[in-house]
Amino acid sequence: MTPSDVKATLSFSDGSPSMELPIYKGTVGPDVIDIRKLYGQTGKFTYDPGFLSTASCNSTITYIDGDKGELLYRGYPIEQLATNCDFLETCYLLLNGELPNQSQKDEFVGRVTNHTMVNEQMQFFLRGFRRDAHPMAVLTGLVGALSAFYHDSTDINNPEHRKIAAIRLIAKMPTLVAMAYKYSIGQPFVYPKNDLSYSGNFLRMMFATPCEEYKVNPVLERALDRIFILHADHEQNASTSTVRLCGSSGTNPFAAIAAGVACLWGPAHGGANEACLNMLEEIQAMGGMSKVGEFMEKVKDKNSGVRLMGFGHRVYKNYDPRAKLMQETCNEVLAELGLENDPLFALAKKLEQIALEDDYFVQRKLYPNVDFYSGIVQRAIGIPVPLFTAIFALARTVGWIAQLDEMIGDPEYKIGRPRQLFVGAAKRDVAPIASR
Ligand code: SDX
Repeated sequence: MTPSDVKATLSFSDGSPSMELPIYKGTVGPDVIDIRKLYGQTGKFTYDPGFLSTASCNSTITYIDGDKGELLYRGYPIEQLATNCDFLETCYLLLNGELPNQSQKDEFVGRVTNHTMVNEQMQFFLRGFRRDAHPMAVLTGLVGALSAFYHDSTDINNPEHRKIAAIRLIAKMPTLVAMAYKYSIGQPFVYPKNDLSYSGNFLRMMFATPCEEYKVNPVLERALDRIFILHADHEQNASTSTVRLCGSSGTNPFAAIAAGVACLWGPAHGGANEACLNMLEEIQAMGGMSKVGEFMEKVKDKNSGVRLMGFGHRVYKNYDPRAKLMQETCNEVLAELGLENDPLFALAKKLEQIALEDDYFVQRKLYPNVDFYSGIVQRAIGIPVPLFTAIFALARTVGWIAQLDEMIGDPEYKIGRPRQLFVGAAKRDVAPIASR
C-alpha cells in the first residue's frame, strides 16, 4: 500500500476536534481512506451495510474494474487466461502469484491428481441424505466433513499445512460434487482416473457407469475447463468475504471453505445460475419468445419482486467479461452437440438484447453477469440444474483458498469483528410475569 500525498480531514459541525485520515493508493483502482484509528479518536463507527464503500483488506490476487468490465487474476486478463491456459495452470497462478513453467505445472498437476480420491468413509455421509437433497446442502456437509479427516493435520498457521490443504481441496471437490450427483440419481460412485485431465476426470466421474467405457468429449472437456477458469476467483465477493471472516478465527481451512459453499448457494450470488435457468424454463413454459415482453414488464415492476436472474452486479456497471466468454463457450458447446437452435439459448439472447436497449436496465447499468449463460452451457453438457452452483463452488474453491491463505499469511491480520449502530431498546428492568 502506498501512502498518498493527499490526506482526508474529517471535521464535525459541533466543533468536535477534526481528524486527519491517511489515504493509501493501490497498484490500480480506487484509493482507500484508512479509518482504523477513527473509533479510538472519535468514539464513532463508520456505517456501511452491504459494504458498498468498504475495502475489507488489501489483496494482490484479483482486480475488477467494474466500469471497464475488466477482470485480472494476478494481473492477467481473464480473456487471455481463458484462451491460453487451463484451469490447473490458473489454480497455480492464483495460489502462487505467477504462471507455472512446464516443470512447475507438471509437479502441481501431479500433486492434485494424486489427491483426487476421498477417504472411503466419506461415502457414508451421503447415505444420511435423502436422494433428492439439494446438491448444495450435500456439498456444504461433505466439505465441512473433510475437517473430520484432516483437522488434526492442518495447523492453519503453518504455510506447508496450508499448501497441503489447498491441494486436497482443489483435488477433492470434483470427486465430492460427482459423488453428490451420483447419489442423487442412484448410480454407483465413479473413482477418479489419474490418466485424465482435471476436467476430463470430472466429466467421467459424473457421467460414466460401470457398464461401459466412458469417452471424454474434448470439446466438452475444454468448455468445462473454461467454465472453471471463469469462476475461479472474483475479489471480495460475498462467499470470499465469508471464507475470510470465518478463517480469521483460526478455524481449519475445510471449515472455512464449507462456510463459503453455504454462502455461495444464495440466489443473489452463486445460486443465480440455477435461478436463471429456472427463469428461462418458466418463460419457455409460459409461451417462450411471445412472452418475453410480458416477463420484462414484470421485471421492471418493483412490486412484482421478479428479477432478471443472471443480470446486474455490485461491481460490474459494464458487461461482465466472463459473460462474453461464457456466451462464446455456449456457442461452441451447442454447435458440438447439434443444439444450435436450443430454445433457451435463443430466449436468453433475446432477453439480453431487449435489456441492453431498455432504459430501466441502461439507467441502472444492468448487464449480463457470469451466471446468465453458464446455466445454458452446463445444461447442454448434461449437468442437472440443481448442480450448477456446486460446479461454481468447485471452481471457486481455489479462489477462496488463495484469499484465505493471503489473509492468514499477513502478519497484521486480526479476527474480523464488525460493530453496529444500535437502534434497539435502551436499558430497562424485567417486570414480573404477572404484570407483563
Ligand atoms: C455473482 O460479487 C461478486 O463478484 C459475485 C460474483 C462472483 O463471481 O463472486 O460475480 C457472482 O453473484 C453474480 C451475481 C449473480 N446474481 C444475480 O444474477 C441475481 C440478480 N442480480 C441481482 O439481484 C443484483 O444485481 C445483485 C445482487 C447481483 C447486485 O445487487 P446490488 O449491487 O445490491 O444492486 P441492487 O440490488 O441495489 O440493484 C440496484 C438497482 C435496483 O433498482 P432501484 O432500487 O435502484 O430502482 O437495480 C435493480 C434493483 O432493483 N436490479 C435489478 C436486477 N439487479 C438489480 N432489477 C432487475 N433484475 C435484476 N437482475
